Amino acid sequence: MARRRQLYEGKAKILFEGPEPGTLVQYFKDDATAGNGAKKGIITGKGVLNNRISEYLMQRLAEIGIPTHFVRRLNMREQLIREVEIIPIEVVIRNVAAGSISTRLGIEEGTRLPRSIIEYYLKNDALNDPIVSEEHITCFGWAGTADLDDMVALSLRINDFLCGLFLGVGITLVDFKLEFGRLWENDEMRIILADEISPDNCRLWDTRTNEKLDKDRFRRDLGKVEEAYQEVAKRLGILPEAGVRDLKGPEAVQ
Ligand code: TMP
Repeated sequence: MARRRQLYEGKAKILFEGPEPGTLVQYFKDDATAGNGAKKGIITGKGVLNNRISEYLMQRLAEIGIPTHFVRRLNMREQLIREVEIIPIEVVIRNVAAGSISTRLGIEEGTRLPRSIIEYYLKNDALNDPIVSEEHITCFGWAGTADLDDMVALSLRINDFLCGLFLGVGITLVDFKLEFGRLWENDEMRIILADEISPDNCRLWDTRTNEKLDKDRFRRDLGKVEEAYQEVAKRLGILPEAGVRDLKGPEAVQ
């Protein structure tokens, strides 16, 4: 079979031309980076697990009416997605203080926030993805006010839904990052969820022990990185024990 044309290679994924116009193939790599590429490594099997975890979460979100770019999983490392114009803003939603909000504002890691907080970061590696305000985003035209309203409304719904989904399997959704894109259909533009949702861009803590089950194990050299990604998939009931026919649904945790 002819090799697909590569359109873009990022730190954790590659985008190829899709089989029909308006589609792309998203390939998940095992490569891991932290600190904007300052730390590099391989997390064996990460691409396979993130492909599967992101598929599962995007499907559950679609079921509650969240529009996403996900079409279907093609194989272990690839999924078919809809081509969108990516909005150059990373939306971070926080429920518990951790990572940069703790260092920036001196709030102890693990502090439950009185309400969920949304932050915006400009997608710009050369500038180290700086935090920006709504004013910056609309002033410089990265997104319009109506786009931002849609992104916030979708982010809050996604946060509520995923908090409950993860809590059901004994995981606290501490924080996570989303990306959105513009999709044109018959001259109408819609904002839809893009990128991926996986332990690469979520902080996931075991609800009982607060053990980290996400990329912080890599960022902070905590060890058992592969095991953490596997544990998330296992709790969601999507880690095949004996092949793809062995997939179970999520297991409720008391
Ligand atoms: P932070 O505490 O480093 O700002 O990260 C907040 C959340 O967003 C955390 O779950 C990791 C995720 N994130 C990304 O996925 N990509 C990024 O470039 C950044 C800065 C954060």
